[in-house]
Amino acid sequence: MNAEKKHIALVTGATGGLGTHIAKRLSDDGYIVCANYRSAAKAREWQEKMQGEGYTFHLYKADVCDYDEVGDMIATIEKDHGTIDILVNNAGITRDGIFKKMSKDNWADVIATNLTSVFNCSRHVINQMIDQTYGRIINISSVNGQRAQFGQVNYAAAKAGMHGITKTLAIEVANKGITVNTISPGYVATDMVMAVPEEVRNKIISGIPVGRLGGTGEIAHLVSFLAAPETAFITGANYAINGGQHVY
Ligand code: CAA
Repeated sequence: MNAEKKHIALVTGATGGLGTHIAKRLSDDGYIVCANYRSAAKAREWQEKMQGEGYTFHLYKADVCDYDEVGDMIATIEKDHGTIDILVNNAGITRDGIFKKMSKDNWADVIATNLTSVFNCSRHVINQMIDQTYGRIINISSVNGQRAQFGQVNYAAAKAGMHGITKTLAIEVANKGITVNTISPGYVATDMVMAVPEEVRNKIISGIPVGRLGGTGEIAHLVSFLAAPETAFITGANYAINGGQHVY
C-alpha cells in the first residue's frame, strides 16, 4: 500500500440514514468518499445539505441491483480517483409483511437490493484490490439477519446471506491484504426504523436492554474502525451492535 495515497472509499446507498453518517465519518477520517445513490432528486438535495455542513462527496449514480451499471460506476470512479480501497455495502431496503401475504416482488426487490448488490459491488472491486494487495469490504447487515423478526422473511434472508458472503469471501482473499467483515446493527434512529408503526416500534425499543435506539454515529464509528489499515487481522467477523437486543 502506498502510504502517500489517500484512500478511496465507496459507500453504497450513501444518501440514506446510515450511509450519510458512514460517509461523513470516513471523510472526517481523511478518505476520499465516493457516494453512491439511486435517486437523482434526493442526491441533489443531499449534496447541497452536505456542502452546507462542510463535506465534499463525489456522487456516483448506479442501481446496485444492476451488475453492469455497478461495473460502469466503478470504472468511472477508478478513472476519476484510482482504485477503491474501501467498499461499504450499505444500500438496503425493507418491504416488511407477514410471509403468508408477501408478494413475489417484495421478496425479489429485497434480495436484489440487499444481497445481490453485495455480489455486484464486491465483484467489480475485488480484482483491483487483489492487484494492489489491499482492501476493506464492510457489509452492513442487521440484527434481523442474526435472529428472527416477525414480518421480515425477505429482509432476514438477505441480511443473513450477506454474512454468508462475508465469511467465504474473507477466506478467499485473506492472503491478499483484503479484509471482509459484517456489521449487524440493531434498531437505529433512521427513516427505515421510523417507518415501523409507532406502537410496534415502541414495543421493540422496550426490548432493547440499553433502553434506546442506536445512533447512526455509533454505527459509523465501527465502520471507521474496520476500515483502518490497523485492523488487518480482523476478517470474516460479524460485529453485533444492537444495545444488547440480541446476545448469543
Ligand atoms: N409477534 C407475533 N405475532 C405478531 C407480531 C409479532 N411481533 N406482529 C404481528 N403479529 C400477529 C398479529 O397479532 C396478527 O395476528 P392474527 O392474524 O392472529 O390476528 C397477525 O400477526 C397480523 O398482524 P397485523 O395485522 O399487524 O399485520 P400487518 O401485516 O398489518 O403488519 C408487520 C405486520 C408488517 C410485520 C408489522 O407488524 C411491522 O411492521 N412490524 C415491524 C417489523 C420490523 O421490525 N421491521 C424492521 C424495520 S427496520 C429494519 O429492518 C432495520 C434493521 O435492520 C433493524
